[in-house]
Amino acid sequence: MQPDSQRASNDRTRVRRSVLAVPGSSVKMIEKAKGLPADEVFLDLEDAVAPLAKADARANIVAALNSDGWGDQIRVVRVNDWTTQWTYADVIEVVTGAGANLDAILLPKVVDAGQVVALELLLTQLEQANGLEVGAIGIEPQIENAVGLKNIDAIATASPRVQTLVFGPADFMASINMRTLVVGEQPEGYDTGDAYHHILMSILLSARAHGLQAIDGPYLQIRDLDGFRRAAGRSAALGFDGKWVLHPTQIEAANEIFSPRQSDYDRAELILDAYAYHTSTAGGSRGAVMLGEEMIDEASAKMAQVIAEKGRAAGMRRTSEFTPPAG
Ligand code: GLV
Ligand code: MG
Repeated sequence: MQPDSQRASNDRTRVRRSVLAVPGSSVKMIEKAKGLPADEVFLDLEDAVAPLAKADARANIVAALNSDGWGDQIRVVRVNDWTTQWTYADVIEVVTGAGANLDAILLPKVVDAGQVVALELLLTQLEQANGLEVGAIGIEPQIENAVGLKNIDAIATASPRVQTLVFGPADFMASINMRTLVVGEQPEGYDTGDAYHHILMSILLSARAHGLQAIDGPYLQIRDLDGFRRAAGRSAALGFDGKWVLHPTQIEAANEIFSPRQSDYDRAELILDAYAYHTSTAGGSRGAVMLGEEMIDEASAKMAQVIAEKGRAAGMRRTSEFTPPAG
């Protein structure tokens, strides 16, 4: 468990390549999740938990968050959405019982900024009442329908607690009547492009515009690892930071797919060093220079910065160093 102040300042940059979904109703699965190498674990009170099991699940989650055995995973709880009868009690019970051991609340089916503000207000009162640092618990809004997507910028900026924007493909597909039952795969009959492209790009653009992380949702065919890798590869290529995972084999794949390749990471660090050197007085204060066969300039350095930061956050080590030209 990190100290509160470190937690609050780190949350938007902590690596979230793999986000493991765990039903709050299963003590066994929660126990197992503690030892898995997912970057984030979210304990679910929403769709993975039957209505009659929700009260017990809250108690399981509080006990689990307060227990030993966790690694350095980001610990999150998904509450029920604001249109249900459960949301307020989910938040109150979890934060009162285990607020010091909770990094964020995942809020599903968000439709507007008001729903984020409502959670923000409740969290602030609970943090005050329980002697917790105000603002330490983050919010991860989940975009799961057309209204949420239309209001995404207002949702993204509704509270300084917002750390990520999370796609919920299953609910989203249902909400727009997309004609498929296989989450993460293309709808049959749509043979042009990627049916998710607009939604993914809208989430990504809003996340980038507001300094948040963009997280792709689940791929439900857990035995189809190739399918998972394809879907994860697409959102990783666009620029997403991570994806939900439902099974240990998906964790490994997500951690790999959402980290830069070693050769790209090395190249990115090299570009940054070379650019810093050549733009310095010692390097001749030049703006555009050749690095091997490639011309690099300010824009190349920005692209390299993105890859280098992802690699550093994932704990990668460079395998080559920049040597300034002799003479
Ligand atoms: C996840 O919540 C989804 O709806 O895909
Ligand atoms: Mg959903």
